[in-house]
Amino acid sequence: MNIRYFDHAATTPVRQEVINEMLPYLGIEYGNPSSMYSIGRSAKRAMEKARRRVAYALNAKPNEIYFTSCGSESDNLAIKGIAEANKNKGKHIITTKIEHHAVLNSCKTLEESGFEVTYLNVDSNRVYKYWRTNKCNKTGYNININYVCK
Ligand SMILES: Cc1ncc(COP(=O)(O)O)c(C=O)c1O
Repeated sequence: MNIRYFDHAATTPVRQEVINEMLPYLGIEYGNPSSMYSIGRSAKRAMEKARRRVAYALNAKPNEIYFTSCGSESDNLAIKGIAEANKNKGKHIITTKIEHHAVLNSCKTLEESGFEVTYLNVDSNRVYKYWRTNKCNKTGYNININYVCK
């Protein structure tokens, strides 16, 4: 069967180079990097090295790189983290009705703690009419999540 797979945001095959890099940490170097004993410290060194490499590849600083266990954790960390850290600048979040539940539930939690959340409809091109017609003139700190405007 000829498969065309387009959902790499959900899961993706791991490249052989990555598998090769990871193999020692799945077997021999299995330490918990938060622990103090030697295999933990060794794993911590490897993790910090990986953090520096990712930062370099993204032209970022190592302390700007966070490793998470899954997409849902990333959504929660990014959305709630940015919203809470910047709530003195505004408490209005803009998202769409078609986001992943990890995004929608993060927004719902923020809504319950006093943020205003606008859930946009999308049209057949997935273009936010809200953006396209430039009606987004509320002041406040906005987060535009997922998918790209045309
Ligand atoms: C935006 C978004 N958030 C979260 C997830 C869920 O990821 P996970 O199963 O790794 O928590 C997905 C999966 O497709 C996603 O696209």
